[in-house]
Amino acid sequence: MTFQSFSSTYIPQIDAHLQTLVRPQTTDGRRRLEEAIAYSVLAPAKRIRPLLVLAAAQEYDADTSKVMELACSIELVHCYTLIHDDLPALDNDDFRRGQPTCHKQFDEPTAILAGDTLQSYSFEVIANRLPQHFSAERCLGVISKLAHIYGVMGLAGGQTLDLYPDFSGPLADKQQRLIQIHRLKTGALLAGCVTLPGYLFGDTDSRLALWESFGQKLGLLFQIVDDILDVTRSREELGKSAAKDVDQNKMTYVALFGLDKARQLAEDEAAGAAAVLQDLKCNSDTLSNLLEFILRREK
Ligand code: IPE
Ligand code: IPE
Ligand code: MG
Ligand code: MG
Ligand code: MG
Repeated sequence: MTFQSFSSTYIPQIDAHLQTLVRPQTTDGRRRLEEAIAYSVLAPAKRIRPLLVLAAAQEYDADTSKVMELACSIELVHCYTLIHDDLPALDNDDFRRGQPTCHKQFDEPTAILAGDTLQSYSFEVIANRLPQHFSAERCLGVISKLAHIYGVMGLAGGQTLDLYPDFSGPLADKQQRLIQIHRLKTGALLAGCVTLPGYLFGDTDSRLALWESFGQKLGLLFQIVDDILDVTRSREELGKSAAKDVDQNKMTYVALFGLDKARQLAEDEAAGAAAVLQDLKCNSDTLSNLLEFILRREK
């Protein structure tokens, strides 16, 4: 299936499910928190992470509804990371997904609490709903793996290194540390998206290792392209602030290698990911089309 037809089939389903998950329920002062969550989650977005979950799951079972909770739970966490990434204490951004950032629209305390709530809520969604389709043991495994991905060994660790980097030493050392930041802050979650469906459906360890390798390459690619877009696209095109990385003196692929080399490295990473995909012998070409979309995306 082309990426276009895959995403136009599934983004409306993902959005509809997210809507049911974040519909405000309280009538007292807590409604502010629920509204901040709905505001951030329901803003128009690419939904790459849930699309990856559904595309990987389709390799095992055509009924994608079995992993819809997992897909949306991961999107909830992604939204939390964006809300916190934009806070003045981190990247200090005022524009995201085509609208003011959560702390601009509401305020900082509300944005911090919205992020906190989204992370714990994501686990509630999985624990309550995934066991309808998979064994309790596999669901517990998913919870454990996701908690690992969100912590020191993944997202939060990567965000810390992004904020307090060590870029001393020769270029090769700098590159290794930058790869580590990108893998942790962005790659780990994307790798989880393509690996967890196979884990739930009981695939072999050797195939799960291939999924992990594909996801790692895809994740690194995703962040290299994000670094490139930051300097090549406008705020209007991206729906988020542009030229922020230079502004904030961030170490990125473009800062380290220049634009042309960064583009070449993105192509190389995509070719590496495509080779792993070949080894996986997927039934459908949806994932290779998704890979191509991630490489060529313009926002
Ligand atoms: C932005 O993620 C944060 C990064 C990891 C670079 P996306 O580019 O997937 O943002 P949305 O979800 O479409 O807004
Ligand atoms: C953020 O990376 C990765 C996250 C874990 C949210 P960036 O700081 O480069 O993401 P953008 O460019 O603000 O979307
Ligand atoms: Mg950041
Ligand atoms: Mg940022
Ligand atoms: Mg960026």
